[in-house]
Amino acid sequence: MRYHSRMWVRPENLNANGTLFGGHLLSWIDEQVALYSIVQLGNERVVTKYMSEINFVSSAWQGDIIELGIFPVKFGRTSLTLHCNVRNMVTRESIITVDRIVMVSLDESGRPMEHGYKEITYARDRIPHRMKPIPRPEPVVPDDLSNEPLYDIDG
Ligand SMILES: CC(C)(COP(=O)(O)OP(=O)(O)OC[C@H]1O[C@@H](n2cnc3c(N)ncnc32)[C@H](O)[C@@H]1OP(=O)(O)O)[C@@H](O)C(=O)NCCC(=O)NCCS
Repeated sequence: MRYHSRMWVRPENLNANGTLFGGHLLSWIDEQVALYSIVQLGNERVVTKYMSEINFVSSAWQGDIIELGIFPVKFGRTSLTLHCNVRNMVTRESIITVDRIVMVSLDESGRPMEHGYKEITYARDRIPHRMKPIPRPEPVVPDDLSNEPLYDIDG
């Protein structure tokens, strides 16, 4: 397994127990796995479809440097299945494992799209070349509220 990125456990990442908050860790994993999948599948439109068993193996503490390892388990037709392990960079003790994460490549309409890859690349040969920007939804323009008084949260 290759370790792709590192993170410092900061005060804002802690839970009430004083250790790394699991939700923050999962968010970091999700982002890193998505970026990895974009490079592997040559498509910026990749979404998380499924996460299997998540095992919080041990705690991380403020100041720890942790690193994320990703291992591609299976290239499907439209999907890529990955295994993930986060460990303490110094002690190499495992902090969390996610057995399987399934990422799906989408077309412009948001439907699963065949990616055509069977093997991992270690080069930058699949980095997507964006021909045009991903269309954003039209902004919701509220009715003219300029004469409305501002309310505080209690109304
Ligand atoms: C991703 C999405 C388009 C897939 O739609 P779908 O109707 O399940 O599509 P398909 O049935 O064609 O499956 C697509 C791929 O996902 C895989 N898949 C679908 N459900 C799965 C599941 N429960 N577990 C594992 N893999 C699954 C399929 O095997 C297929 O892979 P393959 O083409 O490599 O064989 C749709 O579920 C979706 O938009 N989900 C929301 C994704 C999202 O917004 N994620 C961000 C976090 S909320």
